[in-house]
Amino acid sequence: MQFKDIIEKKRNGEKLSRDEIEFFISGYTAGDIPDYQVSALLMAVYFQGLDREETFWLTDAMKRSGDVADLTAIPGIKVDKHSTGGVGDKTTLIVAPLCAACGVPVAKMSGRGLGFTGGTVDKMEAIPGFRTALEQTEFEGIVRTVGMSVIGQSAHIAAADKKLYALRDVTATVENIGLITSSIMSKKLASGSDAIVLDVKTGRGAFMKTQESARQLAEWMVDIGKRSGKKMAAFITDMEQPLGKGVGNSIEVMEAIDTLKGKGPEDITELSRQLAGYMIYIGGKAASHEEGVKMADRCIRDGSGLKQFRAFVQAQGGNPDITEDPSLFPQASCVLELRASGSGYVSALDAETVGKASQLSGAGRAKKEDPVDLAAGIILNKKVGDAVKPGDLLATLYANDGEKARAALQVLESAYGFSEQPPEKRPLIFDIIE
Ligand code: URA
Repeated sequence: MQFKDIIEKKRNGEKLSRDEIEFFISGYTAGDIPDYQVSALLMAVYFQGLDREETFWLTDAMKRSGDVADLTAIPGIKVDKHSTGGVGDKTTLIVAPLCAACGVPVAKMSGRGLGFTGGTVDKMEAIPGFRTALEQTEFEGIVRTVGMSVIGQSAHIAAADKKLYALRDVTATVENIGLITSSIMSKKLASGSDAIVLDVKTGRGAFMKTQESARQLAEWMVDIGKRSGKKMAAFITDMEQPLGKGVGNSIEVMEAIDTLKGKGPEDITELSRQLAGYMIYIGGKAASHEEGVKMADRCIRDGSGLKQFRAFVQAQGGNPDITEDPSLFPQASCVLELRASGSGYVSALDAETVGKASQLSGAGRAKKEDPVDLAAGIILNKKVGDAVKPGDLLATLYANDGEKARAALQVLESAYGFSEQPPEKRPLIFDIIE
């Protein structure tokens, strides 16, 4: 097989065979096909597209290009949850304990934050002592005994995706539905769960800015997951403004704890109970999504979700007392306030700009190798729809570097928009694709 013939076929708008896709992925992973030829194929795919069958074959080949976790030794239907990324999204820290408290094992492989979006691994590391670099056997053991575990994404998962994504990034070929679907799903399928609930974000702080593009991605990912034998569903949810009030690593863990105590912000509480309810249902412990939501509610009310969270933290080396004593978290030395200068209503709170402000405060990283400041971040005291008058506290910014804090506060200020009339309320959950 000649790789040039594969490029030519796709350039002419023809469908590639499974063998050709396999040849492409195994050859590229092994270093036998050069970047310049793969760049040409990616551009051909960008213009001609992949159909769902080609996308399934590509996903499957990419999944097998690295390690594939085998979780069959853990009893029960293992459920995973994946968000396409957002600002202030700490739902994993809430839904995983709620599911585990209901008997649904959660074996979660998570990543670190990059750019304006956060990552679960960084958030968990805000808990003193917490370890996410676990051996696979330790990870599985914790899932079996405690009901849930979070492990940092292995460098060997979907090896082809790492090379391909880097190449797409510099050849302007990221934005193709088949390539995005295969990139995300190859990693999810390699992490070994039996069921996957996706949270596809849409809005200013999301990778998919429009509802139409988010819906298309959700439909394709659900389809590819089902073709791979997984139970699947995708929520399409709002990321126009950040989720909850806290953005930043320790700040988000504190908000997750509050939510497990029944004292979380309304949006994060609602999304978490809906996602957890669906995972409990798809994990076979509830007869319907609604019943799953009721079970999740009960775990918040009776404290079993919080108890589960503490057991999980302890099992991974963290100090469980952080649930009762926030002073155990890393503390910021510099606290700045943003106050309103006029009166009216908050009409916009651009999630991407808040994410950038949080990154500037030190909570996020611009490059993969950058360190993060676990204490840094933002509390949004006012969000869209809230009434404000002059002098009201809009947001509080935490950092350990005064210069960074002042630069971040300026960016944060630009995220807010105001109106005289209350803005129209946007739905939090647009749809569930099954
Ligand atoms: N996230 C991924 O992991 N891959 C893509 O292609 C796009 C977003």
